[in-house]
Amino acid sequence: MKSTDAAEANLSDGPPEELTGQRIVVLDFGSQYAQLIARRVRDQNVYCQILRHDITAQRLAELAPKGIILSGGPSSVYADGAPKCDPELFKLGIPVLGICYGMQLTCEALGGKVDNAPSREYGPAKCKISQHEGLFGDLPDEIDVWMSHGDQVSSISDTFETLASTPTCPYAAIRHRSLPVFGIQFHPEVTHTPLGGKLLENFVVGVCGCEPSWKLGDFADAVIQRVREQVGNRRVICGLSGGVDSSVVAALLYKAIGPQLSCILVDNGLLRKNEQQLVIDEFTNHFKADLRVVQAEDRFLASLAGVSEPQEKRRRIGSDFIECFKQEALTIKDAHFLAQGTLYPDVIESGADPDGPAATIKLHHNVGGLPAELGFELIEPLRDLFKDEVRRLGLELGLPESLVWRHPFPGPGLAVRCLGEVTRDKLVVLREADAIVVEEIEKAGLYRDTSQSFAVLLPVQSVGVMGDARTYENAVAIRSVDTNDFMTADWSRLPYDLLARMSSRIINEVKGVNRVCYDISSKPPATIEWE
Ligand code: XMP
Repeated sequence: MKSTDAAEANLSDGPPEELTGQRIVVLDFGSQYAQLIARRVRDQNVYCQILRHDITAQRLAELAPKGIILSGGPSSVYADGAPKCDPELFKLGIPVLGICYGMQLTCEALGGKVDNAPSREYGPAKCKISQHEGLFGDLPDEIDVWMSHGDQVSSISDTFETLASTPTCPYAAIRHRSLPVFGIQFHPEVTHTPLGGKLLENFVVGVCGCEPSWKLGDFADAVIQRVREQVGNRRVICGLSGGVDSSVVAALLYKAIGPQLSCILVDNGLLRKNEQQLVIDEFTNHFKADLRVVQAEDRFLASLAGVSEPQEKRRRIGSDFIECFKQEALTIKDAHFLAQGTLYPDVIESGADPDGPAATIKLHHNVGGLPAELGFELIEPLRDLFKDEVRRLGLELGLPESLVWRHPFPGPGLAVRCLGEVTRDKLVVLREADAIVVEEIEKAGLYRDTSQSFAVLLPVQSVGVMGDARTYENAVAIRSVDTNDFMTADWSRLPYDLLARMSSRIINEVKGVNRVCYDISSKPPATIEWE
């Protein structure tokens, strides 16, 4: 990919001011919750961006956020190599809120003392508030909070004053006596701190003085305007997968440049039942967009023949996809740009943002994407948004709810749910079983309540009896999970009656299946997909 300077300039520091108004930044010290903090701030209609923990105070001064949040993190502030922030940032006059490790760093930098707590504290606590103005405005005298820490602040000297405490944590919340600097030991961003949203609102709106003016609709208008300027009269290609992200990108681009958009759907033969038709209907009936469908089932199945190792299956599917997409794209005259549904978590996790915290977060796999070498200039209109914001944007753009709330589907498709070697016959069985699982979940009104529900075809045969005859046929597993972020997940507690209906329908209606199991593993240690 050859990104233009203009594109790079507007991406590296997050969207330009006119797209966001004021912003809060979160410095990430390796917390599993940094993204959650950013999302909670955005819930207050204030734009929030995650930055590297070691960003300089000078750079922060240039970015001029209205407030700085220091995230938690797994380290001890006194450990060798513990991530630190530039202590000069406390002198910028910008309000700072240190959360957990961020609080301990704040204390260490400004004169308090941090010690190993007698025992690691993890779980709920009752927090007594002694000062109600500012951070704790409009909150009751006692709130439920979530603790997760080893170290804690043991002395705040005269520099800080105490705002709140718990039975085991005398300095659960503190503020600096002369600077706009706060620290809290608990985690306001998690749902186990029910009034955490109010506390963050108090910081963002009350202390930092942000106007709650970040609106997705305005954001979309500004992105559309920017795309029009960037594209001019050239042509944009967009890969469609039937998933939410690529659909929202296409809808946004269609609104911006209409007939200059060409969409490509590669049917790799690994899609769900009726999926190709569904995408075609949505994108030709709804948008009248130029849609090219590449029928590549034979090619993919030939590549997969004889391959049962999961990583090798993924690798082959990935490279075939790129080849197919490229061949089709070359037939589109004047194609100059490639639009992709990159989201904010991808940006911060991949290190595409030079100020971003990639050093502390690991890369998440993604087969089914396109490599930089295709030679197109890249447009990524969703790269500042979280998934739930993309869904809201999709609805605002007029996409149907059924599409916006569709469960995610992996790039390698049914191949990672057809364990072992993938064959046309096995795919027929899996597709039918999968359609029944989804249909029954929908009928039970649980589609929106579960995050991902599907069938997996196991590479075993088992003995059964049908009528009076012995059978020796396939086993299918049902997988249904509940999750917020897909990094961790729990198996859905589906009602027994629903499981019974799925099982009996699959065994009766899908030829070649005589046994159905329900997967009751959480992630970790299992993953959501079986391969
Ligand atoms: P795992 O199986 O790692 O999956 O728990 C987490 C989420 O990622 C999806 N997934 C993928 N998505 N390409 C994708 O676009 C892939 O290669 C891929 N592998 C897993 C999975 O469906 C779940 O939502």
